[in-house]
Amino acid sequence: MSCRHFLTLQDISASEFKQIIARAMELKNSPQLATRAEGKTLALIFEKSSTRTRVAFEVAMNQLGGSALFLSSNDSQLGRGEPVEDTARVLSRMVDCVAIRTFDHAMLSKFAAHSSVPVINALTDDYHPCQLLADMQTYFEHRGDISGKRVTWIGDGNNMCHSYINAAALLDFELRIACPNGFEPNAELMAKHASRVTLCSTPEEAVTGTSLVVTDVWASMGQESEQSERLARFDGFQVNAELMAHAASDALFMHCLPAHRGEEVSAELLDGAESVVWDEAENRMHSQKALLELLLNG
Ligand code: CP
Ligand code: NVA
Repeated sequence: MSCRHFLTLQDISASEFKQIIARAMELKNSPQLATRAEGKTLALIFEKSSTRTRVAFEVAMNQLGGSALFLSSNDSQLGRGEPVEDTARVLSRMVDCVAIRTFDHAMLSKFAAHSSVPVINALTDDYHPCQLLADMQTYFEHRGDISGKRVTWIGDGNNMCHSYINAAALLDFELRIACPNGFEPNAELMAKHASRVTLCSTPEEAVTGTSLVVTDVWASMGQESEQSERLARFDGFQVNAELMAHAASDALFMHCLPAHRGEEVSAELLDGAESVVWDEAENRMHSQKALLELLLNG
């Protein structure tokens, strides 16, 4: 079905990415400038927990004059086995946009293929593109254009790391990644963006001279049973003051949250001056509002 979706950052162009960032910054200062969405409904299908993503979408739709409809998998017929494609066809006839948080990225793609309204990835096991809209808005606000800068990902080669790889390609920054052996990002994606993305052998090497350090939990949603094994395997990959000392003097620290103080990040760093995590969290709302404007109005 020919309809605009946002399943990964590859669904937008570099100039659209920059437009969303600029618009999010504008709407943050002047919310009254937003294009109204009166009478429009965004359905939220969440098969995993969420605070930021869900609240950002619900508040954004409210502020635009529309409404958001939250559907947990337990409450809808999806949870009882109604086919994804049938759910997509039905919801398309009633709502104007659908945001989905699920495990398998293929479920999201299947839904989008059968939806006649825009579908947004609110996080899958493979990608978290909405978070990158907010992260990049936050970098632009604090430091200006990220083009040509060095950015460092420390920790798990997970959904967030994959979205950083896509962002590096679109916004033209150098991405250095340090992961424990066996936790590297998707090899195909790495190969596709080899000119901008490097796998480093130590966190120190990855952080040297960098303008932005980013990390995430060591066990993502759905990996709870691996928590204790991962704690051991990620030893030495904590982002803390000692590691940040290798970065550029004005380097920022980001984390999509929720964070585990004392695991992937020290409490001092997360709560310290280099950390912009609370701006990053707030910007989820402004950037998702800018995304909704784009998708709802074409
Ligand atoms: N960062 C993020 O997506 O947070 P939630 O899981 O609370 O939505
Ligand atoms: N990688 C984390 C991100 C949470 C926002 C997860 O998937 O659980």
